[in-house]
Amino acid sequence: MKIAIVGTGYVGLVTGACLAEGRNSVWCVDKDEQKVHKLQSGILPIYEPGLEELVIKNGKAGRLYFTTDLQKSLEKAEIVFITVGTPPRPDGAADLAQVYDVARQIGQLIDHDIIVVDKSTVPVGTAEIVQRMIQHELDARGQNYLHFDVVSNPEFLKEGDAIKDFIHPDRVVIGADNAKAADMMRQLYQPFAGKQHPIIVIDVKSAEVTKYAANAMLASRISFINEIARLCDKAGADIVSVRYGIGTDSRIGMQFLSAGAGYGGSCFPKDVKELIQTGKRYGVEMEMAQVVDNVNQRQKCYLAEMIGRHFGKNIVRKKIAVWGLAFKPQTDDVREAPAAETIKALVQMGAVVAAYDPVANDQAREFLADCAEQVEYADNMMTALDDADALVLFTEWREFCQPDFSELKRRMRQHIIFDGRNQYEPKQMTELGFKYYCIGRGYYV
Ligand SMILES: NC(=O)c1ccc[n+]([C@@H]2O[C@H](COP(=O)([O-])OP(=O)(O)OC[C@H]3O[C@@H](n4cnc5c(N)ncnc54)[C@H](O)[C@@H]3O)[C@@H](O)[C@H]2O)c1
Repeated sequence: MKIAIVGTGYVGLVTGACLAEGRNSVWCVDKDEQKVHKLQSGILPIYEPGLEELVIKNGKAGRLYFTTDLQKSLEKAEIVFITVGTPPRPDGAADLAQVYDVARQIGQLIDHDIIVVDKSTVPVGTAEIVQRMIQHELDARGQNYLHFDVVSNPEFLKEGDAIKDFIHPDRVVIGADNAKAADMMRQLYQPFAGKQHPIIVIDVKSAEVTKYAANAMLASRISFINEIARLCDKAGADIVSVRYGIGTDSRIGMQFLSAGAGYGGSCFPKDVKELIQTGKRYGVEMEMAQVVDNVNQRQKCYLAEMIGRHFGKNIVRKKIAVWGLAFKPQTDDVREAPAAETIKALVQMGAVVAAYDPVANDQAREFLADCAEQVEYADNMMTALDDADALVLFTEWREFCQPDFSELKRRMRQHIIFDGRNQYEPKQMTELGFKYYCIGRGYYV
């Protein structure tokens, strides 16, 4: 099939590369000329394991193209995906301007029947609005004989595992109110489907709600375990033991039950906030989602509070090393990352920061531009520690898991570790001579 994908970010680029791998002819469109030029020369604007190989391979095979020209990409396309951003507005509602902009352009440009797929995460009812917008443009052009369907196909990929998630998905959700459009979508995803990877066809509105319900459910598990972790810290219990004790219950399971510094990234925080706003629009108070969000906001301050309490006023001009800037390993995405918020808090308290991330230093430098004078970025994990008064760990990259602790001791001025991922064993750290703070292991009262 010929496919157009509008918006070549994390989701658009992964979708484009994987659909090209499935032998489709894929045209990825972006309005960012620089991004498109880079992609045309085989340079990826994001870090995602395995993506570069797929992009280069399918580009060489003549199945994957990058362009700023939406009209050209739509020529003879059977399906057009909308994969632009839906960032949060100040009130927490999703800003759908980019989606609507693309919908209008599609309505202005199509000259044949087509399926329009909302893959961006959008609140329930958006497909209806997109449908009306495209129809309005067709009517204005006097071409209302053209037929199009708007399908919802929410994306569930996890950054860092995105290729695997796309090629071997837990499930593919297709929201389609028209049988022919549903069949086309089934055909498209067939190469990625199987007994363990079902294609679930439901109505459009249910598909739209499914995406928010899934993310809010996962976020709620994280907020729940983080709240229990705070109790463990006060009561002298150990969240790692508690997690094992509850996660082995087959009704509960172990996933998304690790205590930490709060969830971040471009999806959970914004999707939980939008769900609260969706509820308001429909007159339904989303109390659970609100609490999940509140607990997370508080958790994101937990490490900064610990550090502030440890150093007190003496924190001024203390050098704090930070390992891990993205919101999780294997990605360079720093959006809403707990590390960024903690760094801002530390700078406000008067500390200086030496930060290091294996792939996200540049993104963090841009994101934390306001703190440029107090934050330096190290070339490797060890130089960040030179003369540091403490190390704060945010992201469980493999290289941070078993560092050479004797080198840490040699380089650091004070031997203090604040571990936002519970990477190390408290007893071992104490034996090695570190003052070790972590989350919910009874070591912070
Ligand atoms: N990142 C994830 O892990 C993830 C996972 C699932 C769902 N989603 C959802 O997918 C959507 C996209 O997320 P993302 O992280 O890929 O966003 P992103 O910001 O990485 O990429 C969006 C891209 O769209 C481009 N764009 C914006 N307007 C355009 C236009 N009019 N024409 C052409 N290009 C345009 C931007 O230049 C940008 O490159 C969001 O709704 C997000 O919530 C993201």
